[in-house]
This record gives sequence, C-alpha cells and structure tokens, in this order.
Amino acid sequence: MDKIIVEGGKRLSGTIPISGAKNAALTLIPCALLTEEPLTLRNLPRLADIDGFQHLMNQFGVTTAIQGNRPEDFGRVMTLETPRVTNTVAPYELVRKMRASILVLGPMLARMGEATVSLPGGCAIGNRPIDLHLKVLEALGADIELAQGYVKAVAPDGGLPGGDYDFPVVSVGATENALMAAVLCTGTSRLGNAAREPEIVDLCNLLVAMGAEIEGIGTSDLTIHGVRRLHGATYRVMADRIEAGSYACAAAITGGEVLLEGAKAEEMAATLHALRNIGVSCEAEKGGVRVAADGKLKAVNLSTAPYPALATDMQAQLMALLTVAEGTSVLTETIFENRYMHVPELARMGAHIETSGRTAIVHGVSGLTGAEVMATDLRASMSLVIAGLRAEGRTEVRRLYHLDRGYERLEEKLALVGAAVERVGDE
Ligand code: UD1
Repeated sequence: MDKIIVEGGKRLSGTIPISGAKNAALTLIPCALLTEEPLTLRNLPRLADIDGFQHLMNQFGVTTAIQGNRPEDFGRVMTLETPRVTNTVAPYELVRKMRASILVLGPMLARMGEATVSLPGGCAIGNRPIDLHLKVLEALGADIELAQGYVKAVAPDGGLPGGDYDFPVVSVGATENALMAAVLCTGTSRLGNAAREPEIVDLCNLLVAMGAEIEGIGTSDLTIHGVRRLHGATYRVMADRIEAGSYACAAAITGGEVLLEGAKAEEMAATLHALRNIGVSCEAEKGGVRVAADGKLKAVNLSTAPYPALATDMQAQLMALLTVAEGTSVLTETIFENRYMHVPELARMGAHIETSGRTAIVHGVSGLTGAEVMATDLRASMSLVIAGLRAEGRTEVRRLYHLDRGYERLEEKLALVGAAVERVGDE
C-alpha cells in the first residue's frame, strides 16, 4: 500500500490549481439517469470515488466516455448516456465501498418507477443513517420497503406525484436525492429546511440546465415543479471548496503564500473567516483566492454547522493548523459524532489536544515532530499531511486510499508550491 512521506519545514509558495468538487461531482453524475440524452460533465476531478461511481453507473446501462485523460491534465470530461436503464439494483458490493451510491435512489426511482439500493452500512465518521433520504422520498409518493439489507423504493403507477417535506435536520445527501426525484414528479414538491451547500446549488443549476423547474435555489426552501422529461446538457463542475480550504491550511501552517487557482471566495466564506481570525490573510482575486501567513497563528473557537457556517469537512484541517497557534482553541463538531479520529495521530506528532464528546480543546504548542501516522477518513488524513508540512523531520502518512478518494494528485500539487512530499510504495 502506498504512503506519503513529508519532510516538514518547507515554506509553501506559488499557485495550486483547484480541482472540480468531489461532493458536487458525486451528485451530478447520477443526474445522467434522469434523461435519455447525453450529459457531459467538465472539470470532473480524477479520484477513486469518481471512478467508483462511474463503475456503478455502468451497472445500470449508462455508457461513459472520458476525454482529457492526458496524465499531465488535472480533471477530465465525462459524457454519460442512458438511452435505456438495464438494471435498477445497486448491489452491496459497490455501495459498501462508496456511501454516495445512495444518491442513485432518487433519480432511478424518478426515471424507472422503482429502485433497489443496498443500505450503505456504518461509516468511519459516525453512524450516518439514511432515514431522511427515505422519509423525503416517501413524502414525494414512493412506497419504501427495507428487506435483506436493501431499500426498495417503488412509485405508484403513473409516476411519483410529488409532495412536501420539512427536514428535521439539514442533510446534504437527502436534499440531493429529493431534488433528483422531484424534478420528474407529476406535480409540485416543496422542501423545507433543505441543505443549501454550494454543491446543492451546483446540482440545481445542472438540473435547470436539463430543463427542470426549481424555485428558491440557494435558499433552504425549494419548490420544484415536476416536468415530463429532462434533456441532456453540458456542465462544468464547481471548484472544490474543501480542497481549496485544505491547501489554505497547508500554506498557512508553513507561513507560506499561495494562490488557490479557481477557488471561489464566496463559496468558502466561513473557512476564510476562520483563517483570518487565526491570523492568515485571505484575499479574493481574479484567478482565485490568495492566502498568506507570516508564521504567527492565533487560537480561535470554531464550531461546525450546515452551510453557510463552517463545514465539518474543514474541521480536521483547521485543527491541524491550530495545534501550532498561540493559545487555546475550542472546536465543536455538531454534524458527525465521531469525527476526531485524527486527534490521537496529531498527538503522536506532539500536538496537545483534549476531547470530550463533540468538543476538542487544542492547546497550541511551539512545534510538531514528524511521525508515522494513519487516519481512518479522508479529511483526517489531510490534517496529518498539513501537520507534517510543519513538523520537524519526516512524517509518513499511511492508508493513502483515503486521500486518493478526495484529493486529486495531492503530492503533485504540494510539490508545485515547494513542499517536500513523495508517494512511495510500502516495502
Ligand atoms: C455530505 C458530504 C460530506 C459532508 C456532509 C456534511 C457528500 C458525498 N458528502 O455527506 O462530505 O461531511 O455532507 O456537510 O456530499 N443524517 C441523518 N439521516 C439521514 C441523513 C443524514 O440523521 O438520512 C444526519 C447525519 O448523520 C449527519 C447529518 O445528518 O449527522 C448531516 O449529514 P448529511 O448532510 O446527510 O451528510 P452526507 O450527505 O452524508
């Protein structure tokens, strides 16, 4: 298994190109199930999760063609075409590896009147139930049954009628599933307390480009007037705000200055606000966002919450930065119950962190030291790379498959700005 070796202490400087957003791509791809016509997605990141989702789509009879696959290119273009759905079952074997597979439930049900998807099972960052996905689809008129580890959703004859649902808690995935089903309902649907993450806006924009009628885009109240059919489209995936935020933390911890090329400041406002409070300068400019740090970092208190508040997907990376800030920071994780798995690993590098339930208290230390570390989720793994960039000596981050799920060519991007990082095979 590959690992990444980071020699700490190099100041990052230069430009990092930001890829298309993984979490947007994972909800734009299943939109290909909603039309017989081709859907072309540009700026798709090259990631293991995207390859996995492509494979899943192929199981349903979706053809996929890829362009822009030169090794030196970041991103790719994928055309997906679904003249006929040949299979409506997403098997355990594929869903188990990729939780986002649940996002085929809504569009498959809308197109075919039925869909069977394996329950995703537990996940390293908490239980992550799918009850809200099922409740909202029921509200749109689906009949849902759970049996042998599978969810089977069936629409009445004549298709899903549509309906109203107020989410008791904000869920990104359940909002996405509901939107992809509601666009082809025979009537109008209303979603209250819907997620309004930029990735949801990206999904709405694609659906509108395919002929959907959606009101309230960018707000937590969405009204969807169902249409009889959707057509094909060509669409560019938004920039990855979490990847951009991660590299901002990487630059800041080294006292460096980087341009996050293609990043959109308005989509990562809470992260930039947190960084500024920590003492990092962040400026939007024409080509992206520039972050610069002078080595002095200040402790802050941070709490994650649904957009527009601070993303839970930025918590681990900001924590890595705060391990070397002056003073004591308090972090509160309100979205997932088990998202501090990077803490014992950061402690192995000399960080001083106490956790209690959803709270982490980070006592800033003057320096970190390199160590062999591994983490059990994607963003946690990135926090270890960030810490490694600052640490004295050599850090080895194992279980690279987590990073490969969400960071396109991490080591190449870091090398572009002067980091000493290398991917090596395990001996
Ligand atoms: C998405 C993102 C993930 C991010 C998360 C929160 C993708 C592929 N993943 O995950 O990176 O960390 O949003 O911003 O886009 N919940 C329920 N029942 C449900 C669904 C969710 O109780 O049916 C709870 C979850 O346990 C969690 C909270 O709602 O506590 C938010 O989860 P949700 O927004 O659904 O996250 P995902 O869509 O899984």
